[in-house]
Amino acid sequence: MSNHAAPDFKNPVIRWVDSRLPVFSYVYAEYGVFPMPKNLNYFWNFGALAAVVLVTMILTGIMLAMQYTPHVDMAFNSVERIMRDVNYGWLLRYIHMNGASMFFITVYIHVYRGMYYGSYKAPRELLWILGVVILVLMMATAFMGYVLPWGQMSFWGATVITNLFSAFPGIGDAIVTWLWGGFSVDNPTLNRFFALHYLLPFVIFAVVALHVVALHVVKSNNPTGVEPRGPQDTVPFHPYFTAKDSVGLGVFLIVFAFFVFFAPNYMGHPDNYIPADPLVTPPHIVPEWYFLPFYAILRSFVDGWWPYEVVFGWWASAKLAGVLAMFGSLLVLAVLPWLDTSKVRSCRYRPMYKWAVILFLIDFVILGWVGGKPAEEPYVTIAQGATMYYFFHFLILTPLIGWIERPKPLPASISESVLQKSAAK
Ligand code: HEM
Repeated sequence: MSNHAAPDFKNPVIRWVDSRLPVFSYVYAEYGVFPMPKNLNYFWNFGALAAVVLVTMILTGIMLAMQYTPHVDMAFNSVERIMRDVNYGWLLRYIHMNGASMFFITVYIHVYRGMYYGSYKAPRELLWILGVVILVLMMATAFMGYVLPWGQMSFWGATVITNLFSAFPGIGDAIVTWLWGGFSVDNPTLNRFFALHYLLPFVIFAVVALHVVALHVVKSNNPTGVEPRGPQDTVPFHPYFTAKDSVGLGVFLIVFAFFVFFAPNYMGHPDNYIPADPLVTPPHIVPEWYFLPFYAILRSFVDGWWPYEVVFGWWASAKLAGVLAMFGSLLVLAVLPWLDTSKVRSCRYRPMYKWAVILFLIDFVILGWVGGKPAEEPYVTIAQGATMYYFFHFLILTPLIGWIERPKPLPASISESVLQKSAAK
């Protein structure tokens, strides 16, 4: 909470409400006069953009649900009906479908911004962990949403992913039967995925609310990673950041609209326009693009691969190891605040770690690329190398660089860094 006194509202209705439930004072304190570091760059737009996409997804999702039928015999056709017969149904569906991709684009950039500028470090650890919780919930929601149109990829994607749980020794098969609600992916599975796909976005909304409350306690980090030293280092949220966020939103909506209106199926798989058929397995079962890096990690674990044999071989099957590594690749993000041993936040002043973070991005892109390729050479070897590097980055490089790196001198304050930059121009 900011320390500003509540404003003297002129409008009597607003005064009446605010003296009973101070929502207007809250918005004024948290989004009007809230002190923001004055040097934030456009990477700080992405949290707000993700929030806009979340609301868009909930609104379009509710409207789609009014015409969608969660039954294996009708789901595919009900989606086709939305596309052809429902007024602006095609628009709702294309916004929702591409919105999922836009959501992951914004959130991946948002997370990477946090990694680059060290936003996960004290006192923002819990804010960061809430972010990782959101990411996991988003993944679960997107996975279940993709099953709903009941196309070939829906069905086979659901089959492959739910089957992974069978890797747990002893209880694996029971877990899978329980997840399916039967002995294969079928109507009960579709029904529960629909129920959960409707529910989880509201859970995400609640966690985002906590995320933002936590942010407003510790306040925003900034590109220098140096905390504001006083009022000379900050500006009120409004009008500067409301305006800057609006510019970013305008650009973002152009990109979003481009996909919706000109390339609505570009990010999807054509096989999902074939109705689900449990008797015909598609040649390549691939998840949506935003899951590909994690899918590559999952598939890297095969018998005979030495890192698998050394770390897991004596106690877990290759399949179980892949599942654990895939979940581990998200979990490791949550403990990043404790893996990074450096006192300096921003990569601007970390000459070695900066390159490590850039190499990590390249590694993540490579994982995504091989995740979409068939499980054959050379892709298997590339995926295995990239998987090793992923964990090497977090578990070895990040702590090590923190110990050995000599950071560049930090500016005394945000103002000093801003003035130095403008003097250099
Ligand atoms: C639905 C998804 C999300 C929404 C709506 C959201 C929303 C926001 C907003 C509005 C901000 C303030 C503006 C900004 O700094 O960009 C923010 C900051 C932040 N978020 Fe998120 N976020 C989401 C997901 C995540 C995830 C997945 C992570 C990390 C794993 C994360 C970590 C952070 C951090 C560390 C900050 C503070 C950044 C700083 O001040 O430098 N967020 N978030």
